[in-house]
Amino acid sequence: MRSYFISMASIFVAAVSLLTCQSNTASRDAIDQRVDELLAKMTLEEKIGQMNQYNGFWDVTGPAPNEEQARKKYDHFKQGLVGSVLNVRGTAQVRKLQELVVKESRLGIPLIFGQDVIHGQETITPIPLAEAASWDLAAIEKSAQVAAAEAAAIGLNWTFAPMIDISRDPRWGRVMEGAGEDPYLGAKVAVARVKGFQGNDLSAPNTIAACAKHFAGYGFSEAGRDYNAVDIGTYTLHNVVLPPFKAAVDADVKTVMNSFNVLNGVPATGNKYLQRDILKGRWKFNGLIVSDWASIFEMIPHGHARDLKQAAELAIHAGNDMDMESYAYVQHLKSLVEEGKVSEEQVNDAVRRILRLKFELGLFDDPYRYCDSVREKSVLMQPDHLTAALDVARKSIVLLKNDRGFLPLNKAQKNIAVIGALAADKNSPLGNWRAGADENSAVSVLEGLQKYTLAIRYAKGADVVVGKPEFIRETAVNETDSSGFREAVALARQSDVVIMVLGEDGFLSGEGRSRTNLNLPGVQERLLKAVHRVNKNIILVLMNGRPLTINWANANIPAIVEAWQLGTRSGDAIAQVLFGDYNPSGKLPMTFPKSVGQIPLYYNHFNTGRPDPTGLVFWSHYIDETNEPLYPFGYGLSYSEFTYSDLKIDTTDRQAINVSCTVTNTGRVAGEEVAQLYIRDRVSSLVRPVKELKGFQKFTLEPGASQNVQFVLTDAELGFYDADGQWLVEPGEFDVMIGTSSVKGLVGRFSR
Ligand code: GLC
Repeated sequence: MRSYFISMASIFVAAVSLLTCQSNTASRDAIDQRVDELLAKMTLEEKIGQMNQYNGFWDVTGPAPNEEQARKKYDHFKQGLVGSVLNVRGTAQVRKLQELVVKESRLGIPLIFGQDVIHGQETITPIPLAEAASWDLAAIEKSAQVAAAEAAAIGLNWTFAPMIDISRDPRWGRVMEGAGEDPYLGAKVAVARVKGFQGNDLSAPNTIAACAKHFAGYGFSEAGRDYNAVDIGTYTLHNVVLPPFKAAVDADVKTVMNSFNVLNGVPATGNKYLQRDILKGRWKFNGLIVSDWASIFEMIPHGHARDLKQAAELAIHAGNDMDMESYAYVQHLKSLVEEGKVSEEQVNDAVRRILRLKFELGLFDDPYRYCDSVREKSVLMQPDHLTAALDVARKSIVLLKNDRGFLPLNKAQKNIAVIGALAADKNSPLGNWRAGADENSAVSVLEGLQKYTLAIRYAKGADVVVGKPEFIRETAVNETDSSGFREAVALARQSDVVIMVLGEDGFLSGEGRSRTNLNLPGVQERLLKAVHRVNKNIILVLMNGRPLTINWANANIPAIVEAWQLGTRSGDAIAQVLFGDYNPSGKLPMTFPKSVGQIPLYYNHFNTGRPDPTGLVFWSHYIDETNEPLYPFGYGLSYSEFTYSDLKIDTTDRQAINVSCTVTNTGRVAGEEVAQLYIRDRVSSLVRPVKELKGFQKFTLEPGASQNVQFVLTDAELGFYDADGQWLVEPGEFDVMIGTSSVKGLVGRFSR
């Protein structure tokens, strides 16, 4: 009887999914029909207008237009020569611009409004690198849902996120925007964020179109210098750079943004191999590709186009559908079509993709559906958004060191000194790319701690930066002013415990913020050493947007917490971890090197032909540093202890190899663990990394409790791409490890 019900249930589920699929197809067909009907009415100029995206007249996130250009832009709106706008803030402004276009242009095609809602709109969640450290896909998806609800409430229907550039170089300031060094974790995070932003109904008033960026290879900018050339083999391109983008496309991401960088000699914006052959061809991506800010124009300084007209020609041929702030398409595409250098069908294809998205967003049914000023006020910073922000913030914190169980602090602890400018800073925790957040809207560490105890005294010690940092201007680091040391040292001398909050100002990482060294910026390490000379009981809380080379701290400070830039609820999350109300569970999504000289340093490296010491100099090493990182990928401690035992590898089914083990909480408090599964293909036609993450599970265990953790390895996990992007699955021996980080776990081996 039971089997009868099971079969009926499975039939029902199948029927529902079939109906859903059919309804999706039906709605897609209906939309495509409406697109074609509209396209037939459009002039060539109006079609090209849809491919033209202007920045609003308020904030800029790239080189700003001059006065003349700004005046011309305004006329283009009325003439239906603009399809999209970025950086317009609030329902009032959105409605104003939308009305101008809908009422004054001939066909009244609504604009789509985009913005970099990278980690929250008003309620700011942790920077994406921090969220990746949570390894909690549900929390990451929820964070994106909150961002989407708030972005949609202020009139936006498109975010230029998730940024899913894999990077192995923390000198590059934009590592704060991504999910770190690993393609498997990066792909999982990409999907969670796309689903969070887009939901199941793009026309709903709390969802927005997502944008997988930057396509592709930007995270491999040479020397970590922003906008620099990228020269990687297609083997790395296919196995490391592209998997998160493929996952985002498979998750139905609606848009992709290409990147500033040259990839193997061709600027990504004009790179046909990337955009037409792979993305639109092999992957059958049916969304739109938008350029990055002026990246069509930048093919001129790249030395790939002699002028803007040729840049427009190269970009459209390569598959770039929308022009962000180059003015290339609106100025030159018409003549390129008239001269026969560009076919109108190429223009039609780009316009179809753009119009389809606008129909899916519901903008044709109601161009003002995202302009509800009442909802705008009720949705922003609402309590459940702030709760979600706290939840993901706590989960993003990584405990790097905790000698002798120094942490958590006893809540009755008295005589606590808090030192460091970042401890009182309500701005830096918002990180870079903070969209519409009010300045100083974060809960500071000091404020978070004071909710626990008032037995706290504060001394700044030293500024991190000089003056007031801004998004678009250089940020000056305080390299000389130590006048506050005396007060801080005196306070430390009189205190039982010292909490030092050190790291980077919120605008010391992000776009245009590459660094040549990864030490604590400015005089902060001197301050740490000065305090350490009078009081060894220091808890170092790091507030930073990238891995840092904190070797001295690691050798001398008993407790170190990686607190990144955690957003609006930063101080609350940190205080709850320091006082033990939340047991830290984060794991590093990116390797922390000991030295900049080791970069690029990452866990999933190749073995080389001379991996081991030989007693002579002839092996792959440095004479002045080890090959080891300061902290490895996947590393993070807990107030609990987790023991791994009983590894089992079942190869009965050669197509689905079952790997399992038991994880036990042998500590005294409940805690969350991230069990990670790594493989190594020992012999293959193309060498494979010494380790590759191919699975992870995050779960909570009470003290003394155990959990059986199981993973299944199939071709999807054991295969790899060749240099042409063809998927290979080869027989042979594989090492497998299940563990608490990329360097600690139970190892086994199997053949298939
Ligand atoms: C910037 C960034 C890109 C962003 C765009 C619009 O230069 O590279 O990530 O989405 O311009 O702000």
